[in-house]
Amino acid sequence: MTSNPDRQNTTAAGGGAKASIFLVGFMGAGKTSVGLALSRRLGWPFEDLDDRIEEKAGRSIEEIFRLLGENAFRDMEHAALRNVCGGLSQGAKVVALGGGAFVQPRSLALIVELTAHTVFLDAPLEELLRRCQQQAKTRPLCRDAAQFRQLYEARRPSYLAAACRIETQNKDIESVAKEVACSLGME
Ligand code: S3P
Repeated sequence: MTSNPDRQNTTAAGGGAKASIFLVGFMGAGKTSVGLALSRRLGWPFEDLDDRIEEKAGRSIEEIFRLLGENAFRDMEHAALRNVCGGLSQGAKVVALGGGAFVQPRSLALIVELTAHTVFLDAPLEELLRRCQQQAKTRPLCRDAAQFRQLYEARRPSYLAAACRIETQNKDIESVAKEVACSLGME
């Protein structure tokens, strides 16, 4: 685990309320799988932003990109995130963001306003690409290796602004979830 001294304003809540946990990182980082495992460990509700977008739109992410385009997807993503953030006053959650949410300035601004933990799940580019290629899920922004690399390099500095970074290569989902919980002092 690496703590980030230049992190976004995203540390534990001072007033007794539990701070939610936002998992960030590139496609293939394991945000959804680790998020589910972490929510089970902590006994907290889990929220997957992409699932929420698909539910509201009545379409898959792939269809949204294909039929409406990326800008429309980003609007939906922002609206969904606003909704999730609004619900956090009811209680802390583990939230898995899509790979682009944390790098969209208006969406990042919503998270920075909260008192929340942000955790960057990191892995080398080749590993992320391999994981995405192995999964059945269709990712509109994972069409070719060159585009994938370009996007990864452009976004990595933003992910590094998360409060802590967990390396995920060669670790199973439960180990990563445990590491996240320990790094936040929750286990
Ligand atoms: C995206 C990542 C996807 C999904 C959408 C856009 C991105 O989520 O939100 O395809 O911009 O990196 P995952 O990171 O869960 O694949």
